[in-house]
Amino acid sequence: MTTRSMVRGAGHYLPERIVPNAEFEKIVDTSDEWIRSRSGIERRHFAAEGQTTSDMATRAARAALDDAGLGPDDIDAIILATSTADMTFPSAATMVQANLGMTRGFAFDIQAVCAGFIYALANANALIVSGQARRVLVIGAETFSRLMDWTDRSTCVLFGDGAGALILEAGEADGTPQDRGILATDLHSDGRFRDALYVDGGVATQNTGHLRMKGKEVFRHAVEKLAETAHAALDKAGLTSADVDWMVPHQANLRIIAATAQRMDLPLEKVILTVRDHGNTSAASIPLALSVGVERGQIKPGHLLVTEAIGGGLTWGSVILRW
Ligand code: UT7
Repeated sequence: MTTRSMVRGAGHYLPERIVPNAEFEKIVDTSDEWIRSRSGIERRHFAAEGQTTSDMATRAARAALDDAGLGPDDIDAIILATSTADMTFPSAATMVQANLGMTRGFAFDIQAVCAGFIYALANANALIVSGQARRVLVIGAETFSRLMDWTDRSTCVLFGDGAGALILEAGEADGTPQDRGILATDLHSDGRFRDALYVDGGVATQNTGHLRMKGKEVFRHAVEKLAETAHAALDKAGLTSADVDWMVPHQANLRIIAATAQRMDLPLEKVILTVRDHGNTSAASIPLALSVGVERGQIKPGHLLVTEAIGGGLTWGSVILRW
């Protein structure tokens, strides 16, 4: 018998304010047509004034707990993937812990930008299979709207805010590729490419800064690296593309998603797509897509999922998960 990290519940939260592409035509030299055709994005949600990453993460966490039929004290650890924590410290995860009224266990943030949720799943899995935690609340939550330079048309039209959460629970399994739960993980980073996507502020500059991206360069890395890491993770799990029910990619750009699916020999009908309505929500995009995929009736128990993401660092990776 093998211990696997199995999904017990999922949930998400999107802020009320929906911003269609047309609103950007008023502030920068852009068009709805350009944004749609280059990125696949039509609208995104933006957090209300004063609404923070930990607020949204808490709402997504409550939804996942409800879905699992669990309370906060059933959770051993919270891992929150975010690059937009409310404050430099303490972590947004400890704020969620307090908001939930959870007085036991431990909580911490993971910072791997758009690949953050992949890193968080891999770390939650390591805690569970090593016996250090039985149930882990894994959250991705971001307020990227607070990092935008509203005069930079090449970035401000791409990002959105939101949060998604999963509850992973230890379960006994046979140790075969047919098991439920996390079957393989594959993580990478390469700091030589840190200038391709970064925020030009932080503790060193004593201000928050703005997101800067060499879009074409990131695009090139994404198309090359995402299919590679997804194939590597499938190999580790002893599976192939033919076994996959759903690809659940990081939702940055429809063209990147389509190119990756093609390299994986997967038709777009097997891809969970939320980029049109959410934009790029960085570490929140995969848990949002998972929860929305379940809500739409697409993802069902027993389905094999391949998730993958790339983000600033560069960081990238993939997780193979049977729902
Ligand atoms: O989540 C982390 C990972 N991030 C990503 O995966 C993002 C990766 N990159 C991308 O998604 C794409 O590179 C973008 C959507 C950012 C840009 O698409 P592109 O096809 O690579 O366009 P481009 O940057 O080469 O720009 C093409 C043209 C340029 O004009 P010129 O130089 O050809 O005259 C830009 O100035 O489009 C112009 N442009 C715009 N035009 C209208 C750039 N932004 C805009 C805009 N509206 N918002």
